[in-house]
Amino acid sequence: MTLSKTDIKNRAPVETLTEDQAKDELAQLAKSLNAANHAYHTKDAPDISDADFDALKRRNAEIENRFPELKRADSPTDQVGGPIADGFTKVQHAVPMLSLGNAFNDENVAEFADRVRKYLGLTDSDPLSLVAEPKIDGLSLSLRYENGTLVQAATRGDGETGENVTANARTISDIPQRITGAPDILEVRGEVYMSHADFEALNQRQREIGEKTFANPRNAAAGSLRQLNSNITKDRPLRFFAYAWGELSAPLAETQSGAIARLTELGFATNPLTKTVDGLEPLLAHYRMIEENRVSLGYDIDGVVYKVDHLDLQRRLGFRSTTPRWAIAHKFPAELAWTQLNAINIQVGRTGALSPVARLEPVTVGGVVVSNATLHNEDYIAGRAGDGSALRDGRDIRVGDWVQIYRAGDVIPKVKDVDIKRRPADAMPYVFPKTCPECGSDALRESGDAVHRCTGGLICPAQAVERLKHFVSRAAFDIDGLGAKQVEQFHTDGWIATPADIFTLRDRFGSGLQQLKNREGWGEKSAVKLFDAIDDKRTIPLNRVIFSLGIRHVGESAANTLAQHYVSWAQFAVAMDAALVGEGDVWDDLINIDGVGHVMAASLITTFQQPAERTSIDALIAQLTVQDIAAPKVVDSPVVGKTVVFTGTLEKMTRAEAKSRAEALGAKVAGSVSAKTDLLVAGPGAGSKAKKAADLGIETLDEDGWLALIGDA
Ligand code: IVH
Repeated sequence: MTLSKTDIKNRAPVETLTEDQAKDELAQLAKSLNAANHAYHTKDAPDISDADFDALKRRNAEIENRFPELKRADSPTDQVGGPIADGFTKVQHAVPMLSLGNAFNDENVAEFADRVRKYLGLTDSDPLSLVAEPKIDGLSLSLRYENGTLVQAATRGDGETGENVTANARTISDIPQRITGAPDILEVRGEVYMSHADFEALNQRQREIGEKTFANPRNAAAGSLRQLNSNITKDRPLRFFAYAWGELSAPLAETQSGAIARLTELGFATNPLTKTVDGLEPLLAHYRMIEENRVSLGYDIDGVVYKVDHLDLQRRLGFRSTTPRWAIAHKFPAELAWTQLNAINIQVGRTGALSPVARLEPVTVGGVVVSNATLHNEDYIAGRAGDGSALRDGRDIRVGDWVQIYRAGDVIPKVKDVDIKRRPADAMPYVFPKTCPECGSDALRESGDAVHRCTGGLICPAQAVERLKHFVSRAAFDIDGLGAKQVEQFHTDGWIATPADIFTLRDRFGSGLQQLKNREGWGEKSAVKLFDAIDDKRTIPLNRVIFSLGIRHVGESAANTLAQHYVSWAQFAVAMDAALVGEGDVWDDLINIDGVGHVMAASLITTFQQPAERTSIDALIAQLTVQDIAAPKVVDSPVVGKTVVFTGTLEKMTRAEAKSRAEALGAKVAGSVSAKTDLLVAGPGAGSKAKKAADLGIETLDEDGWLALIGDA
């Protein structure tokens, strides 16, 4: 039986339910809601209305709130993927989906191999097995199997949270719905892609029915997987290669190659060009073999991925912030093409930098039509390198010239070279503007800086818009429904000028909803959704707030580092107010943070101490609840919060490994012994640090003692 909203209305108020009644009702609700979910997602045939679904879900949540201990393992509250009208539900990845560092030439690969050896303390003659496999140019997908059944498929998203595309993934024939002999929980990760033949046929069909065609197979695959209507996905011939995994209830194997073999046995498509080799030479030989066969594979690849084979070594190597130390992508060389330069436009960025953009006669570079490319700065156009030496033998670039375009992966295409022989007779040298084309303020180029900057600050509309775009970007506030396009529109209409305005939009309008929903492209539902999405981000972690301010030289990883150090907004702001550039304790404390240099520190302080900037920042903070950064999550570590110093020779691991293991367990690793040190780990040959620790009465352990302490002897 399917329950409806009316059934719910007639039920006893939740406050009056007995425990037994609550339990029965939760069971009934789970059944109805899970069936509705299934009907919607797998059959694409919803059998109850959205309103009924919402009413059931609310009742379920109310009962769970009153009787938390009765919450079921299959509680519909935790099921991502309810009936959704205009967007995918979000999925929090149990294990983050990371990306890969890149190598662009053989030398970079050798450096990678050296780094791995050094980290593990291996010599050049010790064996080191690596797996090499094609890097598929598609989009990554995580498939979750519970007891052999596919229960969820999610895109990578920002690596932490992806989109629930389960219904669509079920239409891909390479993806098994059921598997036998697998661990109870198995998340298989891999790449969804489209073959060249299927891509051509799809574009042909699109043309015939007057629909838009896709620029390349990857866009076609992404567009097809991210269809809200899974019937459309079903008609798009997508494929899948498995190459990694997320959460597991039991290991798949002891090696990467073993795990891939196991996934093949379980029924997943794995890439036939996957090979295990020992050493750099055979690794590069496999790369060349794949590169030679690239054109005949029938699908796009953009490089070769190398992974350390032994999983215990992978575990020891661990991760940097978003990439594993045990793997790297060796990218194929960039693609090139010649075309004519029609114009040079100047774009003003969020920090006021004037960037020259080449407007080109459209040209296909590596399967993508390119009509814009970056020209970097004044010197680059004039044929000068940063140090004043000649670039391109001193050849400048002029409007009307034939230029060579360079495109590597997803990066913005660049103008690489110019063919002077084909230069039109009337082509004039390009004169870089001295004023901002957007606000007319002076555009100054400071000595030692390659870039002209608009001095208009917040009065420059281009800077204001770019800052707002940065503010809502994925790693910053990431507000659903408020992307670059909407921000631009709202700014043009005078609705928002600074980030704080986003949060006062609804109140300022009183009738904000009315105005928004009457506007083209917006309806009542999307307007309500937008205001909810904005409210949703009023509570936000410190690192995102710091990054969102768009301060020059403060990128995502610097923002994380600063947030970890200062923990709360209050402490961060106090430091920024008190700091003096180049002197004093607060300055010293700031530049002593690993990853913060003088330039970044000065940029932070001067931004905070400019009155207009500060007013804008304070107005924003007044709208928010900024969450403190908790110490890294660690379970039961005896060294959480302790300051540890390593000295002398470590025999079982390298210093780098010791440091990152200690940090992963919540300890701080310092370079010198002081009264703040909690523990000294001293190997053979320890000298003055051991003596100082003894003088200060600081606990000292040898390497084995340390390993025993952290439970890894
Ligand atoms: S391994 C922890 N192997 O490349 C490392 N990734 O640039 C997980 N990709 O996000 C990735 N082919 O979407 C891996 N054979 C392969 C791959 C591959 C394509 C994609 C993947 C990843 C991106 C990183």
